[in-house]
Amino acid sequence: MEKILVIGCAGQIGSELTLELRKMYGENNVVATDIKPAQKEITESGPFEILDVLDTHRLFGTVSRNKITQIYHLAAILSGNAEKKPIASWHINMESLLNVLELSRELNLKKIFWPSSIAVFGPTTPRVDTPQFTVMEPNTVYGISKLAGERWLEYYFQKYGVDGRSLRYPGLISHKTEAGGGTTDYAVDIFYEAIQNKMYECYLDEHAYLPMQFMDDAIKATIEVMEAPADDITVRSSYNVAGVSFSPKEIAAEIKKSIPDFKMSYAPDFRQAIAESWPKSIDDSVAQRDWGLKNTYDLKRLTQTMLEEVGKKFSAK
Ligand code: NAD
Ligand code: SER
Repeated sequence: MEKILVIGCAGQIGSELTLELRKMYGENNVVATDIKPAQKEITESGPFEILDVLDTHRLFGTVSRNKITQIYHLAAILSGNAEKKPIASWHINMESLLNVLELSRELNLKKIFWPSSIAVFGPTTPRVDTPQFTVMEPNTVYGISKLAGERWLEYYFQKYGVDGRSLRYPGLISHKTEAGGGTTDYAVDIFYEAIQNKMYECYLDEHAYLPMQFMDDAIKATIEVMEAPADDITVRSSYNVAGVSFSPKEIAAEIKKSIPDFKMSYAPDFRQAIAESWPKSIDDSVAQRDWGLKNTYDLKRLTQTMLEEVGKKFSAK
């Protein structure tokens, strides 16, 4: 029987992934943890503990006590916030992964999941249809920590046989939990502002083309890569995931189809330089070939779903 530990369950991904894992493995077999209190849906549907992933002693205790077999480690400081506190963010992003890898080696866990990001690429990477294997010279603290994390993941697999799996998520778009300080989060915020105020000031330039993915597709991909037979996993760093690419101007035009008087303005800040260093689109053919990655939300479907779901939040108030 699998017993799963989710670290960072209260975040944008964790708040949805935890519930999906509970459906699959049984509510009591998924122990949700975060450094902060989690949403009611999580605390009331199964075990929840406050846990700082940097507290090695408590982390080992939680894993041993609950007889954990798999870990989903989602705690991190994202790109925008990491630039404001580079050293602290490096510490959290790296030490947490090393804690989880070391624990997985010592306690012989079956599998771990740790997400990487399109931020591993940098200004010298080809920006269109970015290949799985290419030049990687990230120039953000977040990107450097994700690239180093990928190398550690592969190292632990090759040296110790730790079965770590990973996806380079593009910007994730969801409506259940607020996004957490990333460069791509304008594509979540825009829906809240469009519905409440019919206007949005974007911190990226109108042409800042970036790869994005709707959360349902991201959760599905996460579970699929974790469920795939170990022999099918040929990439032990992290898999490219393409999602769907668009610019702020294009998503604004799509929103206008439903809210004709929606107005978008642009005031690019420090995140524009980050966006310019990341790919515009991604080649994810290796993930398609290895374990059948599929994207089902295009810009139109994603926009309609976000307008409907975010709209319900405000009409319910
Ligand atoms: P988030 O910021 O929404 O959630 C992270 C969670 O980790 C938060 O609930 C936070 O309280 C928790 N956390 C922070 N420090 C902790 C600590 N010391 N101990 C325990 N918990 C701690 O982030 P997210 O968007 O859910 O991202 C999850 C993972 O996916 C991260 O590794 C992130 O880099 C990666 N990722 C996210 C995106 C995206 O668009 N959301 C894209 C690429 C990669
Ligand atoms: N969405 C994330 C960010 O912008 C990408 O990893 O930081």
